Amino acid sequence: MSIELQIQNLRDQLNHHNYQYYVLDDPSVPDAEYDRLFQQLKALERDNPEFVTKDSPTQRVGAQPLSAFSQIKHEMPMLSLDNAFSAEDMQEFNRRILDRLQLDGADSIEFACEPKLDGIAVSLLYEEGVLIRGATRGDGTTGEDITLNVRTIPTIPLKLSGSGYPHRLEVRGEIYMPKSGFEAINKKALSQGLKAFVNPRNAAAGSLRQLDPKITASRPLEMCSYSIGIAEGGDLAEKHAEILKQLQGWGFRLNPLLEVVSGVKGCLDYYERVSELRNQLPYEIDGVVFKVNQLGQQEKLGFVSRAPRWAIAHKFPAQEEMTTVKTIEFQVGRTGAVTPVARLVPVFVGGVTVSNATLHNMDEVERLDVRAGDTVVIRRAGDVIPQVVKVVLERRPEKTVVVEPPEQCPVCQSKVERLEGEAVARCSGGLYCAAQRKEALKHFASRKAMDIDGLGDKLIEMLVDLDMLHTPAGLYQLTREELSKLERMGPKSADNLVNAINDSKATELPRFLYALGIREVGEATARALAMHFGELDPLMEASEEQLLEVQDVGPIVAKHIINFFDQSHNKEVISALIDQAGVHWQPIESKAQDQLILQGKTWVLTGKLEQMGRSEAKNHLLQLGAKVAGSVSAKTDCVVAGPGAGSKLSKATELGIPTMDEEGFIAFLNEQGIELE
Ligand code: IVH
Repeated sequence: MSIELQIQNLRDQLNHHNYQYYVLDDPSVPDAEYDRLFQQLKALERDNPEFVTKDSPTQRVGAQPLSAFSQIKHEMPMLSLDNAFSAEDMQEFNRRILDRLQLDGADSIEFACEPKLDGIAVSLLYEEGVLIRGATRGDGTTGEDITLNVRTIPTIPLKLSGSGYPHRLEVRGEIYMPKSGFEAINKKALSQGLKAFVNPRNAAAGSLRQLDPKITASRPLEMCSYSIGIAEGGDLAEKHAEILKQLQGWGFRLNPLLEVVSGVKGCLDYYERVSELRNQLPYEIDGVVFKVNQLGQQEKLGFVSRAPRWAIAHKFPAQEEMTTVKTIEFQVGRTGAVTPVARLVPVFVGGVTVSNATLHNMDEVERLDVRAGDTVVIRRAGDVIPQVVKVVLERRPEKTVVVEPPEQCPVCQSKVERLEGEAVARCSGGLYCAAQRKEALKHFASRKAMDIDGLGDKLIEMLVDLDMLHTPAGLYQLTREELSKLERMGPKSADNLVNAINDSKATELPRFLYALGIREVGEATARALAMHFGELDPLMEASEEQLLEVQDVGPIVAKHIINFFDQSHNKEVISALIDQAGVHWQPIESKAQDQLILQGKTWVLTGKLEQMGRSEAKNHLLQLGAKVAGSVSAKTDCVVAGPGAGSKLSKATELGIPTMDEEGFIAFLNEQGIELE
């Protein structure tokens, strides 16, 4: 293909994606794909300047605004930012600045650093301190009048506070939807049979482009300001970060991670620190922004067509990527749940290679309408399991088939049942089903359960496939001779394994209860049950009312517990484990629940704990009766914050919740008679 055609082709694609993104709020491809096409086009145009035209997407930002809102011409264009994707890009950025300013010394430039909030840019115009207009960025020159909508956002002041502000002042910033609000409105939309938003940014965009401001008002939107546009009169500071502080004084929210650093080293450090915090932040960011702090220097540096020379966005690796679905298979879990899974052409996203993504249940398959052969957007944020976000319908091949739920278990051929009102379909084979048996055994042997060293998933699968293992009790009958015949198992490892299995007999009641794999009984519930009943027998005989007295046990969990102990084969396995194999535990003093010092309290762990792992800290807290939550709210009683703690700690301080560092926490544990492992 000729260069000219390649350029035209890229422009057509970018224009199409722009329209989807800016006009329809329905992005067709992930940002990373857009960025790649954009970079390709930029490179081709740089090397072939004769083909650069005014209407190229590189020469302007965004697309035409919708006609339903009235249009507003920005008095000062709203620019975009160039992107850096690596430390080298950042070095180059710094070098270009030093060259232009004819400065030396790697550290001579002061940069203001801010997170790059993933929302919608907005311009707010204040006259004599009163908000008179709000506008979207649109194509950078012309935006849409969203005054009525921005007025509904609580973090946007309608009237400035303090004094000394310019009599005409344009404040710019980002409107975004916090993660929690996004989850809540999506949950609500789905429950009403409406379409869910793809991500918080789309949700924010969709919420802002409502012709009815009441709808906008009902959406959890926030705004942080990051710069000014027009400013007439008043005294403005001479540094960017100081202007932001002035804005704060006049009533605008600033992002709390704003910092000033020296040189590119300072920028890269900031980038690292913020990347670590990224997943804990209550809102989405897709990178960090660096701005030359001194306005005098900014002026000297000026602009290129679409972006200032004095600022850059250092982007994080993409959390969304595109790939194709090879097939959709059904997996059978420990409780028989038959789960559709998309097998993918491997794709690098969120820092790992993803080749499978759970589709959860048939409702989800139907909602996404995902089929084998489809191109899909995969999202992996932090440690969260990869999700299929949407199907790129325009890339659907011609012949695809709708996924049908299996009627028989793909592993044991038992009937698959789906109860009224339940999203999940289950194999009715119980422990007859090899898949359920394998999962039950893996769970039984796992670290937080019976903790059998050296009995990994692969080995369990092999033992089940060879028909050598049927129930957890069977583990304790495995002999060294049998085991040493297995593939890749020498006499020494067979010995070690038998020893580890034997060692696991001396256990603790909470572990044992957890190991049984009763539905909905996780580690914390198992511990609460053990503490409450003190022994196994009273628990096995407990009535629903008695179970409901236990913290965290609701009617559903109580039913699962009763059902479990009602089944004769479960009672047989328990008896075989205790009476024949000799599994035992030290009696726990059954403390009445209200004697536990942290009963009814909610604690939050954040930052890095250096002397103990997160899960050890959590276990101690559970043992003392506390609940351990993932986020700070008014209901939190105490926050343990290690180094690197970010928003959770600041939120706790804001709310006046007591906090302690790791040392304080250890001292507290010692007072309760708990020594570290
Ligand atoms: S400064 C001339 N600062 O990123 C400088 N932008 O690609 C213009 N954004 O349209 C923007 N957080 O929507 C700036 N701290 C921040 C930002 C930020 C998010 C967005 C904004 C802008 C886009 C630039």
